[in-house]
Amino acid sequence: MPNSETHFGAPRSRVDGRLKVTGAAKYAGEFTAPDLAHGYVVSSAIAKGRITAIDTAAAEAAPGVLRVFTHENRPTTAWLNSSYRDEVAPPGKPFRPLYDAEVVYSGQPVALVVAESFEAARDAAALVRVTYEHAPHETNLRNVLAEAYVPPKERPGIDPPPNPRGDAAAAYAAAPIKVENGYHVAPEHHNPMEPHATTVVWEAGGKLTIHDKIQGAQNTQSYVTSVFSLPKKDVRVIAPFVGGAFGSGLRPQYQLFLAVMASLELKRSVRVVLTRDQMFTFGYRPDTIQTLALGADREGRLQAVMHEAIAGTSPFEDFQEVVVNWSGLAYHCDNVDLKYKLAKIDTYTPLDMRAPGAPLGMFALESGMDELAHALKIDPLELRLRNYAEMDQNTGRQFSSKELRAAYRLGAERFGWARRSHEPRSMREGRELIGWGMATGVWEAGMQQASARATLTAGGKLEVAIATADIGTGTYTILTQIAADALGLRMEDVTARIGDSALPTSPIEGGSWTAASAGSAVQAACYAVRETLLNYARRMENSPLANAGLDHVVFTAGHIALRSDPSRSVSFADAMRAGGVDRIEQEETTAPDKGNMAKFSPYTHAAVFAEVRVDEELGAVRVTRVVDAIAAGRIINPKTARSQIIGGVVFGIGMALTEESMLDHRLGRFMNHNIAEYHLPVNADIREIDVLFVDEEESKANPIGVKGLGEIGIVGTAAAIANAVFHATGKRIRELPITLDKLL
Ligand code: MOS
Repeated sequence: MPNSETHFGAPRSRVDGRLKVTGAAKYAGEFTAPDLAHGYVVSSAIAKGRITAIDTAAAEAAPGVLRVFTHENRPTTAWLNSSYRDEVAPPGKPFRPLYDAEVVYSGQPVALVVAESFEAARDAAALVRVTYEHAPHETNLRNVLAEAYVPPKERPGIDPPPNPRGDAAAAYAAAPIKVENGYHVAPEHHNPMEPHATTVVWEAGGKLTIHDKIQGAQNTQSYVTSVFSLPKKDVRVIAPFVGGAFGSGLRPQYQLFLAVMASLELKRSVRVVLTRDQMFTFGYRPDTIQTLALGADREGRLQAVMHEAIAGTSPFEDFQEVVVNWSGLAYHCDNVDLKYKLAKIDTYTPLDMRAPGAPLGMFALESGMDELAHALKIDPLELRLRNYAEMDQNTGRQFSSKELRAAYRLGAERFGWARRSHEPRSMREGRELIGWGMATGVWEAGMQQASARATLTAGGKLEVAIATADIGTGTYTILTQIAADALGLRMEDVTARIGDSALPTSPIEGGSWTAASAGSAVQAACYAVRETLLNYARRMENSPLANAGLDHVVFTAGHIALRSDPSRSVSFADAMRAGGVDRIEQEETTAPDKGNMAKFSPYTHAAVFAEVRVDEELGAVRVTRVVDAIAAGRIINPKTARSQIIGGVVFGIGMALTEESMLDHRLGRFMNHNIAEYHLPVNADIREIDVLFVDEEESKANPIGVKGLGEIGIVGTAAAIANAVFHATGKRIRELPITLDKLL
């Protein structure tokens, strides 16, 4: 393409940064409307059974209360389509709030109190009396392992484990070096800063404008129009900002249903905000129990990989994520057997969270590799290099690009890995043991079909629009950069509009595919504008560009200029005048190249190096240094990209050391349902995080040569830390988080 790209690749500050830090950016629960009513959710006290009576009289009589909705009085217009499954639903029957008297998990919404104020609704909610008939529940995955099953129906977009290759059992039996262990990562909750909320603005005639906490406005729109049988033109979803999500906003959640139901019934605007403890009453990272066996020859070359995972899911849906496939992908091995099963427990359905599946599977694989390195007395990095995968053996395809070797080398250099001693407990300072560990990270570099619109005005302002979201990742900024470059504009002259169901079709923002998907669509729409502009310019009388093709011109400073003689140019305004228009609007759709996808596997890679210091007496672990070297194609914006990786690494530290959603199996309920007792790493837990991006030429995964960065930062990080803890202490912890009790 002919243009000088001045913003792509440059470290630009967030275009929405000022709006966010000044509070001008509005989130779902901050939109308001005249006559806004407020809903408060009553959650079930039991995990399983039936509601035999629900007494709402006292609540209804409380001051300011407008209505108390329960399964007994909910409008029949709700659940007109009771089998609707949203855009990213796993196979099964989605949970239906207030559908009937059945209770299927603890914390399930059983009533919605709507009042003139939030406080009035909350007060009255405490007066709702629910009588239950208990049924025995089971929330302990370990008790149902014998009932584990292979999912009968695959979740679209989630690859089941590849067929076994070679003869893993025989190769394992014959291997001179063997490592076999069980691994467990605690269930976790997303805990975004912004709680889930929906504000429904009701207009006479029943038109709804919905502000929802969601990673895809169109997913919410389809949900509402389908479940309530409303015409699409009457439901618009506007969600311009999302205060973190980490997957929790991929699927519409129950506060959306409740707010829309109440609004339609009361013919009023209604807002429903979940409390922090209610944020623990829907999807979470599933409890997953794994076993991994690695067999190697004496040089450390893998002879056999056997990896099995059993994950908990709800009684009503078969949630699936990719846990074990990575073990057939990350290293070269000809004998591989991978299994993935589910078992039902009485909780809500798990939900994609922060690189769903990958940090779990890679924790097992990378811990196992570290054990192998230790047994063989080979440097852990050298062991990875000896087993480097030159192709994707799961599919038999070449990688679209893979500069993991460079990432290993540069990451190790930056970290000082060469100075690592082999023996555990060999580095110490005072009463602190010091350990160095490393691991590999890998994640999909996906692209989805997406459409975008670009509109250029004669005044030289460009707007690009697509229904995607910015969940804090920097989408507004990178789309602005891509669009500005396409037409040679300043970033200030470009506006990116997203987070609106009325805009061109986009998938949810997730799976680390937004930069590649929305970015490619925006660039294509801008290129279409460029072509139209040039056509107008060429048709002008005595046009200096009469014979110029796109390759012969540059778009710069509001002009189309001849590359060979930039003094010969036509302004955008003159070109449009010649075309008889005052604006050019183009919509384009981009999708992955089918030919390339049949031949190449697109993945992002990471080499993670971690240093820990462990207080020998107290067992307390501090992660004092992390170097994460990333191979992710072209980096659109090194500044926001770095932030993405830092965020991922912080979550990796959380997974390794602090985060754990604890189920009280007697109650069948997550008991640490607040961020005082659910320990996310805070500023004081975080020291140096050094992010490197290695050069990687990517030309097959998508038109703009990028790979998403939203998730790769967490993959491998917990494993690197656990390996560092082993190096520091000589204790191999295979159950995350590594709380101090496990080290004493
Ligand atoms: Mo991501 S877990 O697809 O938001």
